[in-house]
Amino acid sequence: MEIRAEKLEDVKEIRAVNVAAFGRENEANLVDQLRGIDNTFSFVAIESEQIVGHIFFSPVEIIGGYSEQLIMLGLAPLAVLPQYQRQGFGSLLIRHSLKKCSDLGYKAVVVLGYPEYYSRFGFISAKDKGLKCEYLVPDDVFMVLELQNGALDGYCGTVKYRSEFQECE
Ligand SMILES: CC(C)(COP(=O)(O)OP(=O)(O)OC[C@H]1O[C@@H](n2cnc3c(N)ncnc32)[C@H](O)[C@@H]1OP(=O)(O)O)[C@@H](O)C(=O)NCCC(=O)NCCS
Repeated sequence: MEIRAEKLEDVKEIRAVNVAAFGRENEANLVDQLRGIDNTFSFVAIESEQIVGHIFFSPVEIIGGYSEQLIMLGLAPLAVLPQYQRQGFGSLLIRHSLKKCSDLGYKAVVVLGYPEYYSRFGFISAKDKGLKCEYLVPDDVFMVLELQNGALDGYCGTVKYRSEFQECE
């Protein structure tokens, strides 16, 4: 089991992992659209020389007219091939990539996902930090993790993803 940053030659396999995990092409298309944009990060999980999992991060911003924007990322999508799920690949991808984002100086990460799953990695309801999702979603599925203690102090408002996400649904 190995986690590493995406390489040029991984593009096709990453697409296949997302299509298989989500059972549709939307997330794979989203990754293809966002790839290469500033502040995007892509990591893969390898097992027996095959890509079995993938995680992607893209920049988000807090709408609120702040003079200094918080350097924050959105985690999405996260995908593990169905036959490799529940074997720790998703957890490893999350832990590894969050450490990299933290090392790179990013302050916080938001995610739209399963609360029982993401709370394992320290994510809490974004509402508790005064953050709201731009999409109409239940409070508990929009979560945030500070990569540095107190990073979100003084910030609140609506979090906006890149416009490509609107085309994803
Ligand atoms: C969600 C996903 C990425 C998890 O990856 P994984 O490699 O299977 O996860 P791990 O092996 O690290 O963790 C497994 C644990 O996550 C839990 N889990 C998996 N999917 C879950 C879900 N939908 N809701 C809550 N918990 C979930 C499992 O119950 C398991 O718990 P256990 O450790 O107590 O047995 C994977 O199931 C997947 O690709 N799903 C389809 C795509 C998707 O929904 N992506 C997430 C979008 S937010």
